[in-house]
Amino acid sequence: MNTVRIFDTTLRDGEQSPGASLNRAEKMEIARQLQSLGVNVIEAGFPITSNDDFEAVREISHELREATVCGLSRCVVKDVDRAGEALKGAPNPRIHVFCATSRIHREHKLKKAFDQIIEISVNSIQQARSYVDDVEFSPEDGSRTELNYLVDITAAAIEAGATTINIPDTVGYATPEEYGHIFKHVREQLPIVDDEGIVLSSHCHNDLGLAVANSLAAVMNGAKQVECTINGIGERAGNASLEEFVMALATRSDAYNLNTTIDTKKLYPTSRMVSRLTGLMVQRNKAIIGENAFAHEAGIHQDGYLKERTTYEIMDPKEVGLPDSKLVLGKHSGRHAFKDRITDLGYTIDADTIDRLFVRFKDLADRKKNVYDEDIEVLLETELDATNRVEMWKLINLQFTSGTNALPTASVTLEDESGHRITDASVGDGPIDAIYSTIQRVTNLSAELLEYNIRAVTGGKDAQGEVTVELRHHDVRVRGRGVSTDIVEASARAYLAAINRIRTMASKPDSRTQLLNEAESNNA
Ligand code: KIV
Ligand code: ZN
Repeated sequence: MNTVRIFDTTLRDGEQSPGASLNRAEKMEIARQLQSLGVNVIEAGFPITSNDDFEAVREISHELREATVCGLSRCVVKDVDRAGEALKGAPNPRIHVFCATSRIHREHKLKKAFDQIIEISVNSIQQARSYVDDVEFSPEDGSRTELNYLVDITAAAIEAGATTINIPDTVGYATPEEYGHIFKHVREQLPIVDDEGIVLSSHCHNDLGLAVANSLAAVMNGAKQVECTINGIGERAGNASLEEFVMALATRSDAYNLNTTIDTKKLYPTSRMVSRLTGLMVQRNKAIIGENAFAHEAGIHQDGYLKERTTYEIMDPKEVGLPDSKLVLGKHSGRHAFKDRITDLGYTIDADTIDRLFVRFKDLADRKKNVYDEDIEVLLETELDATNRVEMWKLINLQFTSGTNALPTASVTLEDESGHRITDASVGDGPIDAIYSTIQRVTNLSAELLEYNIRAVTGGKDAQGEVTVELRHHDVRVRGRGVSTDIVEASARAYLAAINRIRTMASKPDSRTQLLNEAESNNA
């Protein structure tokens, strides 16, 4: 079987999902997990866009020894220099340069003729080669580019020193038949691709829900690398989902006869980690890692499943790392059982963190009779979140009154970084509104609430509530999450987590959005 290389762009294209920006510590945590998952290439960021992205690419590329680490760059001299500087001295560096080639982009965005685009691209590839041996080139909007132009620019890029040519379906427009044909055509027209071991790569967006189908069509026609993201996150409707693509090859090896280096048992923990750190929740019916992916509801299905699992299950949930038992812990469970459960859930945690978690677990078990896997995951996730996030404001105390004839009122005490406590109170349309207004007054930061979601972590009336919010402050969108057996407290914690995130971003002199805007206006 031939092996398809997995190029993960969760930390770059994935991070471009609205509200999903990650700090450096979070990016590093995901990068380590991606390497242990068996990803071959990790696109860690776009170094020109912010100091944070630059540092993330630098730190990740210097720490990871097995995966290749890649930085993205437009075909602009200062971009390539910045990517080159970030990767200088790294064990396995790659620079990924891109330039749009389709008629729509040439005429409306770049206002350049095709010859000029070839020239800019060739110059940038050569410049990138002066920093690293491993250079990838992407003709952006490749799937909508005239086929003869695509062949010409691929030939020129190879000649200039590109070792991987990625043909993106940037706007998710291609059908599997069309996309597969592009790869076949380029290989037929340019025998040098196969003769010299040039890697053709797919990069599919999911606007029509075809990203994984298109990636499969690409590999069936000779692509040797697939670009994708965990949970399929990314611009607009997202990118091809790594877990879906990998499990399609693994489950249907009879049809594809291709494999990957991915350790599929780590898919579920990796998905949870990315969801926790980006704040982007996974839809229940998401293939492979959604809550319902292995749930059987209909009586006929349950009956068949209980007689023989394979009647209604095409994959074993254990193969994708789903915990296989629903062991329930409680207040009499010891540290050993708790630690074993964490290991079974796919987490590797140091002893100090286990100690802190065990104290929180006991506290939870006092408030809640049965502690399920989902509760433990939430404990773990909030603990790991707290390690990564700078908490500028901490929630110290929260009180509220509401009722049929009462005016909803909240009083909140927060503590700032220097230990100074402030208490304030407000009224609102309801308790949550009153609490959010009070937090805005104390932190002196106003933000628009774009989204508020609440869900029970498990069944049962003593279930913990998980609240996620999305806020907009000027042009920055952030997410926050809070969990508690008290849903009002969970709401306050989620809001405060988002406010803290805005504060951290605002305190950086080079806010990412500003630099991205500047970068856009300078586009090649
Ligand atoms: O979708 C796209 O075209 C991209 C390129 C930068 C590869 O993300
Ligand atoms: Zn993309």
